[in-house]
Amino acid sequence: MTSLSAAAPWWRPNTHHRLIIRGGRPLIGTYPISGAKNAVLPLMVSALLTPHLVTLRNVPANLDVAVLAALLQRLGCEMHWSTNSATNGTGLAVTLCADRVRPHRIDPDLVTRMRASVLLLGALLARCGEALLPMPGGDAIGLRGIDFHIAGLRAMGATVELDGGMIRAAARDGLRGADILLPQPSVGATENLLLAAVAAMGTTTIRNAAREPEIADLAACLIAMGARISGLGTHVLVIEGGAPLTGAVHTVLPDRIEFGTLARAAALTDGELILPRAHIDLLGAAAASYGAAGVELHDTADGAIARRAKQGLVGVDITTGSYPGFATDLQAPTMALLTMASGLSAVTETIFEQRFRHVDELRKMGANIAVHGRTARIRGVERLQGAAVTCTDVRAAAALVLAGLGASGETILDGLDHLDRGYDRMTEKLAACGANIARR
Ligand code: UD1
Repeated sequence: MTSLSAAAPWWRPNTHHRLIIRGGRPLIGTYPISGAKNAVLPLMVSALLTPHLVTLRNVPANLDVAVLAALLQRLGCEMHWSTNSATNGTGLAVTLCADRVRPHRIDPDLVTRMRASVLLLGALLARCGEALLPMPGGDAIGLRGIDFHIAGLRAMGATVELDGGMIRAAARDGLRGADILLPQPSVGATENLLLAAVAAMGTTTIRNAAREPEIADLAACLIAMGARISGLGTHVLVIEGGAPLTGAVHTVLPDRIEFGTLARAAALTDGELILPRAHIDLLGAAAASYGAAGVELHDTADGAIARRAKQGLVGVDITTGSYPGFATDLQAPTMALLTMASGLSAVTETIFEQRFRHVDELRKMGANIAVHGRTARIRGVERLQGAAVTCTDVRAAAALVLAGLGASGETILDGLDHLDRGYDRMTEKLAACGANIARR
């Protein structure tokens, strides 16, 4: 299997398998918000579209980035990593050079670790006219089909066959522009089709496109590379394909999911966090729900400040939805907060079918949660108690960290790869803000 640290030298394999949290301490201090995980992955893939240099700044040092770096390296993409001091950031900078791409050199083990590897399909088809990929893996949170991706690529003239767990795609004469209507505003399908469309001949229209800020970030980088894309931030993206692509230098936007998670951690522990580079606008319409639950946010020149509101934590009803709605990636961390809020809450998950696997873990800590179909009803308790719990997916992992920080006694988490997939040095950053947290 490909070594991650050969492609991502900053990556330190996890030698400690447990995270021990002694809860009850307020988080006070500065918690730097990293570049967005969900933006950097498609941005790294976009480097496959051009033989020129693509430099990304504010790259988060997390496991998904290391896995994608290893995948890209095997495909022939060279990478040069450095610290981001030039931009005053805390993240990494990477320069990617894909002057020779070898589309068959896919590492199946790595692909099956991460759903975002499906984005290689659009980019490899665009650059090489062919792609062979195992069905991608990722969190076990629902069906997560890739039928929208495949239908869109077929509409652009590609042949795509599913054969024994492999996806075999080809567009020997190149892709051509198409008018594509997504059945649902899928983030990944919008990104995959965007990557393919910039290299297709003619105009592609993606209707019912997802509007997540990470998509506009990808489009901004592609435009800097010479692509012609309009409709950024709307449900209709129009791409005039075929423009020659140069290199680009792009700074990854701040991670709104990390921001929302840490804002809750500040309120849950009755502390106060300064979250550099975060600002309330990143949260879309969901920002209103923060105040209602007792999470107070202010924008300042140093970043957002988060603390508990005077009225304390209050039960609320939330329903996840596509951006600008309430992010499904914040559903589990929000539930952790609501387990200790006064009164009743209802959390309805509309994006993924199986995104309540954290409920059983939170119950082990004394949470009062009943699940009926896609809705979880929560009656807040005074305080959770520490317990041994298991991280089941990347956002569930963050939720359990929050629960542990707010609980009394000791919480022991295992399944830490899930946490490391999505968060850049969370343990260290929390410890610097006063958390009693360590890996053993
Ligand atoms: C991305 C995010 C993930 C986030 C999710 C929803 C990345 C790397 N991951 O995942 O963190 O939780 O958006 O905001 O950016 N669907 C299909 N067929 C398809 C595509 C999607 O049925 O071809 C369904 C999925 O099963 C799911 C829903 O559409 O129920 C939304 O999925 P999608 O927006 O595609 O999520 P991802 O791009 O996988």
